[in-house]
Amino acid sequence: MAIEQTFVMVKPDGVQRGLMGEIISRFERKGLKLVAARLMQVSRELAEAHYAEHRERPFFSELVQFITSSPVLAMVWEGENAVAVARSLMGKTNPAEAAPGTIRGDFGLTIGMNVVHGSDSPESAAREIQLWFDGETLRYDKSVEVWIR
Ligand code: PPS
Repeated sequence: MAIEQTFVMVKPDGVQRGLMGEIISRFERKGLKLVAARLMQVSRELAEAHYAEHRERPFFSELVQFITSSPVLAMVWEGENAVAVARSLMGKTNPAEAAPGTIRGDFGLTIGMNVVHGSDSPESAAREIQLWFDGETLRYDKSVEVWIR
């Protein structure tokens, strides 16, 4: 079993629209385990570090401005193939192309405000969990793990 961790963030639009519970619920019902969570106001420094690979893109300053505009819910979810599973729950980056039934397909409208962020690879997940949580996540057993093994 490839047990992975992935970084997921409910962006300012998701928090403002009261979608945190809905999004957490979808990850829980899928069977992933929450191992870190923090509601936080993001600094410019953290936003720029998180999106560093997009520094040269035309929307970079708009993206940083948006992520720092209001609190976000930063989380780490754990489970088998957690990176790919989280991305399938979220849907395509552009909500206009995201399938109905996915988070962005159901709740997003524009690529700039697409409700959630999720790590795009295990390597990105490791970098982002280090950046947002100093790499610190909880270890605990959940009863559900007993019967899905
Ligand atoms: S991907 O999945 O990396 O290929 O997606 P990409 O299109 O490169 O987008 C990366 C992140 O940038 C955000 N984005 C934008 N923000 C504001 N304005 C515009 N025009 C815009 N285009 C892309 C997009 O929401 C992605 O954010 P994350 O947090 O990674 O989902």
